[in-house]
Amino acid sequence: MSKQFDVVVIGGGPGGYIAAIRAAQLGFNVACIDEWKNAKGGPALGGTCTNTGCIPSKALLQSSEHYEQAGHHFADHGIEVKGLSLDLGKMIGRKDTVVKQNNDGVLYLFKKNKITFFHGRGSFAAAKDGVYEIRVAGAAEEVISGKHIIVATGSNARTLAGAPFDEETILSNDGALRMAVVPAKLGLIGSGVIGLEMGSVWRRLGAEVTVLEGLSTFLGAVDQQIAKEAHKAFVKQGLKIELGVKVGEIKPSKKGVAVAYTNAKGEALTLEVDKLIISIGRVANTIGLAPEAVGLVLDERGAIVVDGECKTNLPNIWAIGDVVRGPMLAHKAEEEGVAVAERIAGQHGHVNFNTIPWVIYTNPEIAWVGQTEEELKAAGRAYKAGTFPFLANGRARALGDTTGMVKMLADAATDEILGVHIVGPMASELIAECVVAMEFRASSEDIARICHAHPSLSEATKEAALAVDKRTLNF
Ligand code: FAD
Ligand code: NAI
Repeated sequence: MSKQFDVVVIGGGPGGYIAAIRAAQLGFNVACIDEWKNAKGGPALGGTCTNTGCIPSKALLQSSEHYEQAGHHFADHGIEVKGLSLDLGKMIGRKDTVVKQNNDGVLYLFKKNKITFFHGRGSFAAAKDGVYEIRVAGAAEEVISGKHIIVATGSNARTLAGAPFDEETILSNDGALRMAVVPAKLGLIGSGVIGLEMGSVWRRLGAEVTVLEGLSTFLGAVDQQIAKEAHKAFVKQGLKIELGVKVGEIKPSKKGVAVAYTNAKGEALTLEVDKLIISIGRVANTIGLAPEAVGLVLDERGAIVVDGECKTNLPNIWAIGDVVRGPMLAHKAEEEGVAVAERIAGQHGHVNFNTIPWVIYTNPEIAWVGQTEEELKAAGRAYKAGTFPFLANGRARALGDTTGMVKMLADAATDEILGVHIVGPMASELIAECVVAMEFRASSEDIARICHAHPSLSEATKEAALAVDKRTLNF
């Protein structure tokens, strides 16, 4: 007789492990299957986010930023650093420790919440008598069954035809996070979120970085006033960003790899680099899941088809996170996980897609929530805009980091905040206030009338709100 569970979660990333915890909190008997292996072959819970995504990238962004500050900016504060050197092995080792702490943290949470963990690959075997049988292939082979199944199998890096990842010279996010030596020349294809974050890490550590981007607009999904400001800052730092290119053949060269491309002017060029990171988006992952065994429907891009509530075409099978439509973000996956567990319990779980924040952890950081000015224009919505530069913020001056601005967009008639866009110091933290405001459908006047601590970067948000009504106090 197979082990039976109320809820079986396939995938232990931020979507899956959070869904498992919430379901256990709600009183269900829960199992979670995850196949990720650490270097020793043991479990490494937390998915892409913990192992080769959010967590390790932020660890390296922090370390490399310290190096950049010590090398180039401490002197502005009267701090002389002599004999500065880089121990890349130690930096990567620290990142690995941070990852392991997070892996172990999820394992601890599973024990605390009495979730049964299976280390291996889960695949659909059959649907029988109102339950689904799931085959687990790992250290031990077994079939378990669940009344409800939550699929949270995540995504993989998209490959470019003719340039498969070898993680030595042609790297996905995985190899990009564990280079043993700083490459003299690093190429990146795609100036999206990974391109900018990974490009920043390796540039700070000493690589000459060139990013080739297919679109002629930089960060097309970002409010363009903010994107332009960020572009200026990245170029000033030394990131070479070529927009509007068409990438051709990619082949090994004496040095490493040669990328043939046509630039925006139509000139045929070759980029010779030691290493190449390809960061052109990610694709939903259902490898080995055997969705056909039960008739689970995927779309033409391989994502599991779900409705607004994460219900698939089959009763009691749910899917969340990167394997379904919507932004590929850890916090979106988590929110869907919580909402699905609550729906299984008969509650009214809810995810507000209009208030999901985005953050790009470069320097300056870029963060936003809601609609961009371009989107409002396209929708024909009447709006008011207010901006406030960090140059006029006392805390930013004290920090020595005055790049960027806060921009607030509000409805012309009701003053409801429709979007907030930030480029500048600690944008990742500042955006939280704006998410709360939008979730409560606040007006720009609400933010303008709230007391913000002085001196703080958050005063720039208040001033941007005042700017919507053309009455900034400090600019
Ligand atoms: P995943 O995290 O991909 O987890 C899926 C898990 O399922 C994996 O452990 C996988 O091994 C397992 N699995 C798959 N198939 C099976 C199977 N058949 N059986 C058993 N197990 C299986 N997002 C942010 O919000 N903020 C960031 O700062 C951020 N930074 C990122 C940086 C990089 C370099 C990358 C690549 C991504 C980043 N993301 C970030 C995106 C984020 O990592 C994903 O959106 C998030 O991990 C999706 O969560 P998930 O649970 O849907 O899937
Ligand atoms: P992306 O979608 O952010 O950017 C991909 C870029 O590659 C785009 O600008 C696109 O125009 C370009 N591109 C696509 N095909 C190309 C081609 N053939 N030639 C040249 N350019 C091409 O994808 P990315 O950076 O791979 O990241 C994947 C996802 O991971 C992100 O969309 C995001 O959801 C998540 N992520 C989130 C982070 C965060 O929240 N801070 C950090 C890193 C990743």
